[in-house]
Amino acid sequence: MTETQFLPDSYTQQPEQGSVSWKSPSNIALIKYWGKYGEQLPQNASVSFTLSNCFTETKLSYASKDSKGYDFEVYLDGQREPGFEPKILQFFERVENYLAFLQNYSFRIETSNSFPHSSGIASSASGMSALALCLMDMERSMSGAEMTDDFFNHKASFLARLGSGSACRSIEGPLVVWGEHPVIDGSSNLFGIKYPLDVHENFNNYQDTILLVDKGEKQVSSTIGHGLMQDHPYAERRFATANSNLSKLRLVFGNGDMDAFIEIVESEALQLHAMMMTSLPYFILMKPNTLEIINRIWQYRKQTGSKICFTLDAGANVHVLYPEAEMTDVSSFIQSNLAQFCKNGSYINDHAGLGASRL
Ligand code: PMV
Repeated sequence: MTETQFLPDSYTQQPEQGSVSWKSPSNIALIKYWGKYGEQLPQNASVSFTLSNCFTETKLSYASKDSKGYDFEVYLDGQREPGFEPKILQFFERVENYLAFLQNYSFRIETSNSFPHSSGIASSASGMSALALCLMDMERSMSGAEMTDDFFNHKASFLARLGSGSACRSIEGPLVVWGEHPVIDGSSNLFGIKYPLDVHENFNNYQDTILLVDKGEKQVSSTIGHGLMQDHPYAERRFATANSNLSKLRLVFGNGDMDAFIEIVESEALQLHAMMMTSLPYFILMKPNTLEIINRIWQYRKQTGSKICFTLDAGANVHVLYPEAEMTDVSSFIQSNLAQFCKNGSYINDHAGLGASRL
């Protein structure tokens, strides 16, 4: 498959004005994407749970114009947010070839997140996927030909990827694979696909409680982070390991082996951080409380036989993952044992969700 499948057909109508709104969730990778090439293409395949309670809502209003060039304004929670505009401009430039109407309209992009801006939860996945879906929705209404749901989702994911790589995994759910992989039929570097195989019931409605350890600005932007993988001494080994971990996880999704799941997921999180510790320049993105939480999760697992585990993003927050059946016990463990290591005791209860929806 190539990019050309996403080049637009001619539009049969272009409305004078209108608006469209989408809600799109964040996602949490189990197999991590860290390292890219070309135009936002992943060095290895990744897989994530789509989340549910952490989402962005975006309203895109449009009015046709005669002049050429991009024209848009971005609002966060009702306030103009010029700080977001360079990223959106770069996104418009990247997707221009695939959305031929972009320069024909003035856009107003009104966005809000369900999670606080200062939570340290990246809004790029939910934000970029919500915007990509709004644009895709516009395109669907302009093209005369029938558009299948698969094409709509895949092109929305393709566009979202050009905004922020991991955003391409937020369109569908509960599990999405991004990156070509021999054991996942239909997988592509260009867009995310819904995990196509049967998944054991142990993974139904999987829970993710996000412990907000550090709410500050990201120490390393993901652009810089991916860049650090370019001359990284362990890069090739890391990409190969991620792909082989996805092969192992495919078996685990089928047979429900929770101990194997835990081993793969925690190892992936630690490898992501190991890559940052061993790059030049090097970074330690965990905080003392991150380690304290990890140790307490391990202790709890040992004492109780729980199937709780953790994963990490490129930051200090901890995602605590556990089966739905353990919700009551793990919730009280988190409240009594882990909340004290969070900034102001705050955490967000989330779970795997089904992807984005039109508002
Ligand atoms: O989508 P980006 O470029 O912000 O990269 C995200 C990378 C990680 O969140 C650390 C891992 C992943 O696969 O989501």
